[in-house]
Amino acid sequence: IKKIGVLTSGGDAPGMNAAVAGVIRAANAKGIEVYGIRDGYKGLINGWFEKVDIDFAQEILTRGGTRLGSARLPEFKEESVRQIGVDNLKKAGIEALVVCGGDGSYMGAQRLTEMGINCVGLPGTIDNDIVSSDYTIGFDTALNTIIEAIDRIRDTMQSHNRAAVVEVMGNHCGDLALYAGTTTGCEVISTSESKLTEEEICEQVKVLAKKGKRSVIVLVTENLYDSNALAKKVEEKSGYVTRATILGHTQRGGIPTGMDRYLAVTSAIYAVDQLAAGKGGVYVGLDGNKLVARDINSTLNMPRKDKSQELSTIRLLNSQFKK
Ligand code: F6P
Repeated sequence: IKKIGVLTSGGDAPGMNAAVAGVIRAANAKGIEVYGIRDGYKGLINGWFEKVDIDFAQEILTRGGTRLGSARLPEFKEESVRQIGVDNLKKAGIEALVVCGGDGSYMGAQRLTEMGINCVGLPGTIDNDIVSSDYTIGFDTALNTIIEAIDRIRDTMQSHNRAAVVEVMGNHCGDLALYAGTTTGCEVISTSESKLTEEEICEQVKVLAKKGKRSVIVLVTENLYDSNALAKKVEEKSGYVTRATILGHTQRGGIPTGMDRYLAVTSAIYAVDQLAAGKGGVYVGLDGNKLVARDINSTLNMPRKDKSQELSTIRLLNSQFKK
């Protein structure tokens, strides 16, 4: 194999640049040329390819965002659209691809492999919602951003004897809320997997108000409530002046942490090994402390991660303040 491409797809995540840098470094060591494809699958069908080298790798490795750019392209589901991408790759002599992105990128990588371009996926998303990997690239950085924000919110809530509703990302996965809530001492945690009703939340905050707790933080995963409306309800029911903070896209940016860089670079090296061995249609993931390459088709049918331990953690934290 002489030439490979690399692209980042879906919502960006800190560490995607480190993944691209890892691909370049690993390929360089094997004498393989690397082409960066701009804006994900969109760049594939538009032929937006640029040769990237070790200097490029050095420039981007430590940065947030994705220097190659990313996009969501629903049309990529259509075979005729994918065929344009395959033709562009063939014209450029690019034989295989590394795709770094969330589960939305899986299917495209699998279909391209079936059309003759071996693809290996890397788990790049802050959500930690990829079943074939214990952790995803970007999760640790987003988690630390959230922790810093909640610590700051706690300072001011404590000064003013207030309550806060803090909403974090995660799509349908509660890991960001669970890990952040556990490590910052949030009094109420509600996630997709362990959703409390608005009444339960208000009741819990009311109990804390009665006990004279000086500050309360209610941490929720996005898409579960209207956080501003929830803050109003909490205020009415508990008596705390209550403010809502939706952390939004602050969670997606920033310099990747050491753990995200390490996961990104090592998975990328592993991905290039797979391509060099002639493999495709696989997704790299972390299983315990080992990297594994799982067949994309099998990962699509994998049961959701076992969350029983996490759920009992949330239950315990939510029940620590009894009436
Ligand atoms: O998948 C990453 C993610 O940040 C989710 O947590 C969130 O639901 C979504 O992307 C937001 O997407 P956009 O940046 O397109 O608004």
